[in-house]
Amino acid sequence: MVLPYHAEPATDFTKEENKKAFREALEQAKNDFGVERPIIVGGEHIETEDKITSYNPSDKEQVIGHVSKATAEHIDQAMEAAEDAFESWSEWDPKERAELFIRVAAIIRRRKHEFSALMVHEAGKPWNEADGDTNEGIDFIEYYARSMMELADGKPTLDREGEHNRYFYQPMGPGVTITPWNFPFAIMTGTTVAPVIAGNTVLLKPARDTPLIAYKLMEVLEEAGLPKGVVNFVPGDASVIGDYMVDHHKTHFITFTGSKATGLRINERAAVVQEGQDFLKRVITEMGGKDTIIVDKDADLDLAADAIVNSAFGFSGQKCSAGSRAVIHKDVYDEVLKKSIELTEELTVGNPVDETYMGPVISKKQFDTISEYIEIGKEEGVLKIGGEVDDSKGYFIQPTIFADLDPKARIMQEEIFGPVVAFAKAEDFDEMLKIANNTEYGLTGAVITNTREHWHIACRKFNVGNLYLNRGCTAAVVGYHPFGGFKMSGTDQKTGSPDYLLNFLEQKVVSEMF
Ligand code: SER
Repeated sequence: MVLPYHAEPATDFTKEENKKAFREALEQAKNDFGVERPIIVGGEHIETEDKITSYNPSDKEQVIGHVSKATAEHIDQAMEAAEDAFESWSEWDPKERAELFIRVAAIIRRRKHEFSALMVHEAGKPWNEADGDTNEGIDFIEYYARSMMELADGKPTLDREGEHNRYFYQPMGPGVTITPWNFPFAIMTGTTVAPVIAGNTVLLKPARDTPLIAYKLMEVLEEAGLPKGVVNFVPGDASVIGDYMVDHHKTHFITFTGSKATGLRINERAAVVQEGQDFLKRVITEMGGKDTIIVDKDADLDLAADAIVNSAFGFSGQKCSAGSRAVIHKDVYDEVLKKSIELTEELTVGNPVDETYMGPVISKKQFDTISEYIEIGKEEGVLKIGGEVDDSKGYFIQPTIFADLDPKARIMQEEIFGPVVAFAKAEDFDEMLKIANNTEYGLTGAVITNTREHWHIACRKFNVGNLYLNRGCTAAVVGYHPFGGFKMSGTDQKTGSPDYLLNFLEQKVVSEMF
């Protein structure tokens, strides 16, 4: 019998034996630097001339490896392979599909440090963040496998005299998964395996900045015996294959995590019915946030500062859940700001191989965008700490706090996706809530308060998909905190929830008269 789901525990890096094992994995990973990976279409490994080169963001000249690039022609072939594979994969007993994935999770668990170490090099993740990313990937697999087992027999519906009714689920067909660089294993894995466990087949287009960690999943899927063509690996340029995959007449669903601009584009394009398409495409998007921590006047101020600093600067603020705004009651504003600055002074920034708290940001593009926002912040508010940027070796940006922002300032409104947090002062709890809700996003938020009534008000009025009390606003755990946002943060089909697989299933009713 399958054991109940529980989240994969974090590796305790205070233990010397774990540190040693992880250092070895970091060294080991270097043996693969410069590796060349193919695209995979219908199980066939194909090398192309044109390649994506993946660099180490901590050491920008260092090549992690090269990955072949898919063209539109490859997408057609992959779609055909996915359609063929769907015929038999969708006929597998759902429980057997789930069992195969429990094997996938077991293989990854055994090789956990290998995966995390690659993310330290390829994505600039600090140790704990990389470990969390691998664990979350395992969690998604374990959780969705159990979800499928629960859904396998359908749900009860009513019978009546002379009539027997059944209500059950069936997969839809091939679809497309487009994944982000910030959780290059966890989100990539979760959004790929969910439709597949449900019985669909997928074309996986991994993020351009992190294709090698995505390839590791492919290795494991092959080792575990996933039939050819069920997951097709098609890295490539968004400008060449992105729209093509979305528009394809055989694409039944698109699951996307990334920028608002791309998410909206996908949503719009997917609504157009293409020639040869006789179904509606489903779109599942997770598109970002401008997440706020509000601090009440009676709050535990140490806890507040800790929540603000870790939510803002964990993985250099490159999470859609990152706390990028602190809205604070006027009576405690100065104190929380002071404590937050003190905590920030202690943070270390550098190559995460050396166990720094913060690594680099992912790319030159992100480095430039964040640097621009820092300049905007200097105009709009008061720079309290940080602000220095240095891309001489890697893309390093110091953790940065701006104070005294107008709630409508650009750095209070626009997603920065970097280690920058803006502080704003409010008169009372009502005003804090108003400010918290004044962006186009609605992903996460946190309330630091000791007034129970304020928490209850926030539960109703703080308009975000994931709200936390007396803690930071990041680090949702699969199965414990189903994750997804309102408004322009996406379509809110919560990942890691009991409902997530339903996005990839059709509900069927059969009614029989006796
Ligand atoms: N699930 C992540 C978090 O909660 C963000 O994608 O931090």
